[in-house]
Amino acid sequence: MTTARITIDRDFTIGDVPRRLFGSFVEHMGRCVYTGIYEPGHPQADARGFRKDVLALVKELGPTVVRYPGGNFVSGYLWEDGVGPVEKRPRRLDGAWHTIETNAFGLHEFVEWAKEADVEVMEAVNLGTRGVEEARALVEYANHPSGTYWSDLRRQNGAADPFDIKLWCLGNELDGPWQIGGKTAQEYGRLAQETAKAMKFVDPSIELVAVGSSNRQMPTFGSWEHTVLTHAYDEVDYISMHAYYQEHDGDAASFLAEAVDMDAFIEGVIATVDAVKAAGKHTKQVDISFDEWNVWYQSGLETEDQPHLVAAQWREHPRLIEDTYNVTDAVVVGTFLHSLLRHGDRVKIANQAQLVNVIAPIRSEEGGPAWRQSIFWPFARIAQHARGRILRLAIDSSQVSTKRYGDVDVVDAAATWDEESGTIALFLANRSLTEASDLTVDLRGLGATTVRSAEVLTVPEGGDRLVANVVDDQDRVGLTPLRGVDVVDGAVRATLPPLSWSVVLLDTARA
Ligand code: AHR
Repeated sequence: MTTARITIDRDFTIGDVPRRLFGSFVEHMGRCVYTGIYEPGHPQADARGFRKDVLALVKELGPTVVRYPGGNFVSGYLWEDGVGPVEKRPRRLDGAWHTIETNAFGLHEFVEWAKEADVEVMEAVNLGTRGVEEARALVEYANHPSGTYWSDLRRQNGAADPFDIKLWCLGNELDGPWQIGGKTAQEYGRLAQETAKAMKFVDPSIELVAVGSSNRQMPTFGSWEHTVLTHAYDEVDYISMHAYYQEHDGDAASFLAEAVDMDAFIEGVIATVDAVKAAGKHTKQVDISFDEWNVWYQSGLETEDQPHLVAAQWREHPRLIEDTYNVTDAVVVGTFLHSLLRHGDRVKIANQAQLVNVIAPIRSEEGGPAWRQSIFWPFARIAQHARGRILRLAIDSSQVSTKRYGDVDVVDAAATWDEESGTIALFLANRSLTEASDLTVDLRGLGATTVRSAEVLTVPEGGDRLVANVVDDQDRVGLTPLRGVDVVDGAVRATLPPLSWSVVLLDTARA
């Protein structure tokens, strides 16, 4: 048995929970849109072709904001193709994913779907093959009330009211050699600055995300952010981060510790942003939009279901990167959400990539069912319960040794306190594959406390750490009650099973 002691004090907080931390991502890639959120003719589809079974799961998952329409896809996308009468929309080759894009689903459909799903729209513009004019026109189309060419076209296309999209991404992963229209930091920094200016001239209320590095291993990581922000600091509000992780060669211990890398990556970007702020004598603060993150088994990319990398036929919505997630992945995803919360003073937006089918918490089959993957659970519970203020935790934990990160805390945690409802939410991962952890949470200054609920995701009976939910066995991995959680003398006592992620809700006496 390992041990961990967490100390919480109501006066030690990181800041308010930025609710946009619980974002997701819908890209025109594989089966995320087509046969994912949209499948006319499916027995569960509504009159607009939105799958009601998928929508119900999206609402249960609880994302607050959804990025659209890409991803790599956006860097070759003409947004005008996706508006107007569907029968007139062109079929195009999407070079990013080697796919035929029918354009049956576009901006209006996504805005409608987002309303139904009760999520904010985060729209990306194409700065790969396009530039200032097309981005400016899109803001006018989406947000200007009426009386101009683009706003009247939106009205003609059936939307009398502006879409009022506040959050915009200035392109996607333009530092990557794989990106259509990739750029040097100088080229992108200037383009981002000028595009941002023009977009804000149309609607000064919008918030803009500049493209940061595609991952921490990029050779230009650090210098890219520095150069881009040196140009565009005054014009943008956020810089993006992207990161995907996977287990390598069966090294589960290192994989379970990847949030250590995520913490360091975030802190590195904050340092760079603040260096530009200081050097430029800026007063405003640029924050972080971590707008792609997840577990993604990229080493499987050369397999048959990855037609963008192998000679393949051009097809509509092929199966692409439909990773199946197991118990270990769910615990890791829990720790990523902890990392984002721990940095909630600077990471204000985050989007798990993606929402349905493509490296996603929700899976669906064409003409068939939809179900929750293991990683659905930590996201759903944290999105639901992380409210109020993020607590700054002092953690004194036994260590687990890892090849990649040395010794790391066996218990990884985050916590929030919602003064209004009197709820403390504790989010807890036990990274040990073999040992339970004896946990004490010392609650300072929070008055009388009782346990409202406690749930755990761990290896199900008769299973192992690789067990997953699949089409024929959709509920194998889920949350079950965590027994034996008590409050004794102002401290929570619990035993966290090996390889587990838990959520404990406490009621505090209101002030
Ligand atoms: O989410 C899948 C892909 O990963 C996105 O299209 C791209 O931005 C990233 O490389």
